[in-house]
Amino acid sequence: MIDSAPPHTGPAQRSLRDRAADLFPPAAARHTDLAVVRAQGAHVTTDDGRTILDFASGVAVTNVGHGHPAVLARIRGQLDELVHAGHNIGIYPGYVDLAETLVDLVGPGHKVFFANSGAEALESAVKLAMRVSGRGALVAFKGGFHGRTLTTTALSASTAAYRAGYGTAMPPVHHVDFPTAFARGVSEDDEVRRCLAQLDELFDLILPADEVAAIVVEPVQGEGGYLPAPAAFLRGLRERCDRHGIALVFDEIQTGFGRTGTMFAYEDSGVAPDVLVLAKGIANGLPLSAIVARDALMDRWPAGAHGGTFGGNPLACAAALGVIEVLRGGALANAAEVGARLRDGLRDIAADLPLRSDVRGRGVMLGVELRHADGAPASDVVAGARALALDRGLLVLSCGVHKNVLRLMPPTTVSADEADTALAILRDALLGAAAD
Ligand SMILES: Cc1ncc(COP(=O)(O)O)c(C=O)c1O
Repeated sequence: MIDSAPPHTGPAQRSLRDRAADLFPPAAARHTDLAVVRAQGAHVTTDDGRTILDFASGVAVTNVGHGHPAVLARIRGQLDELVHAGHNIGIYPGYVDLAETLVDLVGPGHKVFFANSGAEALESAVKLAMRVSGRGALVAFKGGFHGRTLTTTALSASTAAYRAGYGTAMPPVHHVDFPTAFARGVSEDDEVRRCLAQLDELFDLILPADEVAAIVVEPVQGEGGYLPAPAAFLRGLRERCDRHGIALVFDEIQTGFGRTGTMFAYEDSGVAPDVLVLAKGIANGLPLSAIVARDALMDRWPAGAHGGTFGGNPLACAAALGVIEVLRGGALANAAEVGARLRDGLRDIAADLPLRSDVRGRGVMLGVELRHADGAPASDVVAGARALALDRGLLVLSCGVHKNVLRLMPPTTVSADEADTALAILRDALLGAAAD
């Protein structure tokens, strides 16, 4: 007998959440259960009419706030002119304008390649370094996250869950410790020395440095725990790359476009990369990524060695020009100022918690690492605080290998009032979760 068909429940009767549960694999996990229907500035609105203060920004993407009018105006203007041309078919104004703007930001002597996602841009960076050097090995850092394609999964070491089951297909990458002074209870100087010594030992004992095409590093580890790389560590990497002819690749996919209060995080360290990898905040939500690399590399990347269909889409380039205009026009300064207010407020809250804490970061890329008195990661408190905050109307995420770091990434345009509202909610949420 044929089973009778289930009663018809059309899309209108079922919640977005229920419909999604039928349609998407568990692999595509979500941080929350929210069904978001619109967003503006630092707020998202859900299908049940709640307005929530958004300190996740689509995971560091809507860097100038949802629906920024200057960005929307650029997109609308472009919509009537040209939606797709194909950068491998012809050249179009926004593509060139944006590349010129990026070179202007990074400095003369650079060239640009556009792609669509962060992982794709990182793949491009790695291919560039390999093709030009003729070398095959890569070095990355424990705790780093670089994406979900096979090469970027191989570069990532933020959780074994992302790598499980794919090992045989991934290119070999050697991972070295990234400085984590607070977690190890040591001074930053000692920690930098230890990590650089580990890299030197890798070169001495296992992997000849002249076989390494690229060292890939986040100037502030994102997924790994909102951990800024000490400037001395980046300087140490720069020296080794110069000595051994290795390309230094900065993954600024999460840190770029104002997140840390400067256009790019590396500016603060005084250490420049050979290849800068950009995505996420670049176009405030439209898919776009880029690598900006030195002429010495780019000029030796021969015709046909790389490409793609959608990279540098005209709408996305228009949006990116709008983002940069807004950032230069005051949002960067605002991120630094309101970010400092947030960080001070977080330090006050952390001081009242019965936990060991480290409040760190710059601009609007702030993390609060929590540990119990015995040093164990306080993942329970972070999870509890996130849930309580969401109940009270604030969306925040966590990060860190043990998910014991609360991470705040409001837009660069966040107001002092919004920061104060978030701090009041977080105080209650963290104290409440710590008391449980
Ligand atoms: C530092 C970093 N690198 C790479 C990626 C991957 O970017 P995408 O998801 O656009 O491929 C991410 C995404 O979270 C990231 O934070």
